[in-house]
Amino acid sequence: MYQAPRGTRDFTPEEMQKRQYVEENIRSTFQSFGYQEIQTPTFENLKLFTAKSGETIIDEIYSFTDKGGRDLALRPELTAPVIRFYVDKLQMRPKPLKLFYFGNCYRYDRPQKGRYREFRQAGCEIIGVDTPEAYAELIALSYTILEKLGLKNIQLNIGNLRILDCLFKKYKLTKKQQKYITPLIDKSQYTDLQDALKDFNLSDKNSKEFIEALQLSNINKLQGYIEINGNIEKEISKQKQIMNLLRDSFDIKNYHFKLGIVRGLDYYTDIVFEIEAPELGAEKQLCGGGGYELIRLFGGKETPTAGFAIGFDRTILALETEGYIFPTSRLDAYVIPVNKEMISKSLQIAQQLRKQGCIIDVDLMRRGIGKSLKYANSRNSKKAIIVGPDELKQNSVTIRDMETGEQKLVEIKNILEYIK
Ligand code: HAM
Repeated sequence: MYQAPRGTRDFTPEEMQKRQYVEENIRSTFQSFGYQEIQTPTFENLKLFTAKSGETIIDEIYSFTDKGGRDLALRPELTAPVIRFYVDKLQMRPKPLKLFYFGNCYRYDRPQKGRYREFRQAGCEIIGVDTPEAYAELIALSYTILEKLGLKNIQLNIGNLRILDCLFKKYKLTKKQQKYITPLIDKSQYTDLQDALKDFNLSDKNSKEFIEALQLSNINKLQGYIEINGNIEKEISKQKQIMNLLRDSFDIKNYHFKLGIVRGLDYYTDIVFEIEAPELGAEKQLCGGGGYELIRLFGGKETPTAGFAIGFDRTILALETEGYIFPTSRLDAYVIPVNKEMISKSLQIAQQLRKQGCIIDVDLMRRGIGKSLKYANSRNSKKAIIVGPDELKQNSVTIRDMETGEQKLVEIKNILEYIK
């Protein structure tokens, strides 16, 4: 027996119904904010992903050499591919350019609940603008997507890497030291962080202050922790404007400022944000994003870029955990020919109804009425249309309501009225 590879999943028709519903819902929210959908390839040149992160990223992704000797990788995310596409073909488009996408991503992660080797993302990038209102709208979009899907228990955290950099500079942490502690900050592993800071010769007092600053949720208290000079004052004011706009213009109040939001990817440089569903436990992060720089690295003309991606699979897990009832699509009717002579007419009736917008299935196995009704029931069909010779003589069929069992003789030309 063959099994799907580790970290991948098959989806049943019922699961696909949920996924399609979620995808359509997200698509309509992106569109309502003026974003346009694009698609990029599932695999890219490996260099696209090593350009920023270096060769170490190869351990975390699916990379391979093709038959022509090219080094390729299954995409671990879509921001680098979208920016490659932008630099290659979209640079001349009017700004801001608002693009969204759905796509499967591949990471050589250790699989567990909510963490897979193949997973789906819904994401977007906004190119050419970095005003506070652009950031506020971007963050509001991510929150609105999850809220409109019906999620109740979500938490938005917003950080700022430029302000965090000031904190790093205050304690004279080298780039190498910053790289070492970033994952610890990301996972809020403060005991390990304290040990690391001790190794970097920070005094107990300084390391306590450093960790306190990371956990600050009141931006006005930053003064006590970092030196506020011209540039940083501008950053803090921008951060405050974004948060005020979220509250006053987008009616989003459920957010926290958190300097400890560092993000796992190397290209972020500016505002960063994450949305989590606390009920999901270890893999609770539903969405991550922020401002980043990749355009110049890919040979394009520099312009601001920001975006986010929502983990599609975790979003569905979060909805299920909250007991969300997904709408199900049902068969409008199941058509049953009572004998071989009725097959042609049954297929014709089914086809006519489909052309009129109904969801129709028809018996293809020449089963008796009893078995066919049982099957119609298992497919959750609303009605059964029984096509028999006596009824046909009167240009009619029998329509059975699958919920009440009630049956009616209905003229063929009037079927639509009875099943819609
Ligand atoms: P990311 O935080 O790496 O960001 O991924 C975004 C989301 O994808 C996560 O919040 C999580 O929900 C989901 N995700 C990540 N890894 C897995 C996994 N192994 N299994 C299931 N879900 C997963 C990015 O990918 C950036 N490209 C986002 C972005 C767009 N930043 C700017 N523009």
